Amino acid sequence: MSTPHIHEDPLLDTPPPLLKWSEEHLALGVGVMDGYHREFISIQNALTFVPKSVFAPLLKELVRHTQEHFAHEELLMKETDFPAFWEHRGEHNRLLGELKAMLMRAERGSLVLPREFINSQLPEWFQLHLITMDSALAAHLKVTLNLK
Ligand SMILES: [Fe+2]
Ligand SMILES: [Fe+2]
Repeated sequence: MSTPHIHEDPLLDTPPPLLKWSEEHLALGVGVMDGYHREFISIQNALTFVPKSVFAPLLKELVRHTQEHFAHEELLMKETDFPAFWEHRGEHNRLLGELKAMLMRAERGSLVLPREFINSQLPEWFQLHLITMDSALAAHLKVTLNLK
């Protein structure tokens, strides 16, 4: 039997990451926000290829991480009197509600909808939220906190 000429990379057959962190395209220039966003993408991408047994625990970690991420943004909004606070927080709460509902399903062993959510709706939501509400918040923080 001839040796297959493929690379023995265990990740070779997995789909490409749905979102890739890019300083040029995704960084907003506020360090703490960029840090949360980079980590969010990393956990979300990992969820697209983890085995079934790891999916729910990792989704739980994404929920925890997202709660921390949103709470931190909301604190910055409050501290700087961000005018769109309620609208932005409402969007955070809506997404967190959906994520928690997916976690409940996954913890009961039902992975179809949660996987679908992670593979398509969540990356779409993230990109839209980043270029609209989070960009507006970052611009506001740069002015009010005098960030370079
Ligand atoms: Fe954010
Ligand atoms: Fe946000």
